[in-house]
Amino acid sequence: MSEAIQPLLEVDNLSRRFGPQLAVDGVSLAVQPGEILGVIGPNGSGKSTLFNCMLGQLAPSAGEVRLSGRKITTMGAADRCHQGMARTFQLLQTFPGLTVAQNLRVAAQEHQGSMLSRLLRGGWGGTERAVQRSLAFFKLEHLAHERAEALSYGQQKLLDIAMALIVEPRILFLDEPAGGVTPQMIAQLKALLLAANRERGVSLVLVEHNMDFVMSICTRIVVLAAGRILAQGTPQQILHNPTVIEAYLGG
Ligand SMILES: Nc1ncnc2c1ncn2[C@@H]1O[C@H](COP(=O)(O)OP(=O)(O)OP(=O)(O)O)[C@@H](O)[C@H]1O
Ligand SMILES: [Mg+2]
Repeated sequence: MSEAIQPLLEVDNLSRRFGPQLAVDGVSLAVQPGEILGVIGPNGSGKSTLFNCMLGQLAPSAGEVRLSGRKITTMGAADRCHQGMARTFQLLQTFPGLTVAQNLRVAAQEHQGSMLSRLLRGGWGGTERAVQRSLAFFKLEHLAHERAEALSYGQQKLLDIAMALIVEPRILFLDEPAGGVTPQMIAQLKALLLAANRERGVSLVLVEHNMDFVMSICTRIVVLAAGRILAQGTPQQILHNPTVIEAYLGG
């Protein structure tokens, strides 16, 4: 008998109301360990609201969120981060006046006393080693002493993701990672996210409007429409789903 794999993250019948409007309406989904899940759908379909409820930035009106089987519905965002959930925002969270290395150091130190310090005790190395390792992984070594504001937008986006990954989360949520990034940089971003996923086992959940990017990186896709799940499946299934084409992909 095969043993069922414990999902990493589960959302159970989750709803979020804004006044009379149900922005998220009874959504249930699970993220499996190692998975790259894309969340797509028209503007206003509830993607960001769902994201914020999963990450503890918004309280759901109903439903449950579980991390490795443990109920975290009312846990604050900072505690969820300490439990291995990291995120990037649509807008850059880098510090423009600090150098690339200083930005990474701040991100690493922000989590001291929690996850990073546990890793340090485990002999993973000091903050500096984490910074050097991150610079190498993201191929940012030559920019280590440049101020973040001197970098191209795409490079700043990489730094932003490097800052989220430096604490070695189990699951990384990315809000429109490809937005405003040049095609060349998108290719690099994709390669790095896939490497983080394969080499470090980080599960990824991403909201994205760039369909080429979503379809080429995700193992599974959930389509939202008016706060509900319209369809879910592999990229190929989603690309050929008539309901999805009509509601979102058409045109
Ligand atoms: N803080 C809020 N107060 C009131 N209504 C909100 C709030 N946040 C979102 N909404 C509404 O909830 C619905 C879902 O919004 P949400 O931002 O989750 O959509 P989205 O799928 O992320 O859209 P987009 O692709 O444009 O980012 C929208 O109708 C939006 O106007
Ligand atoms: Mg949004």
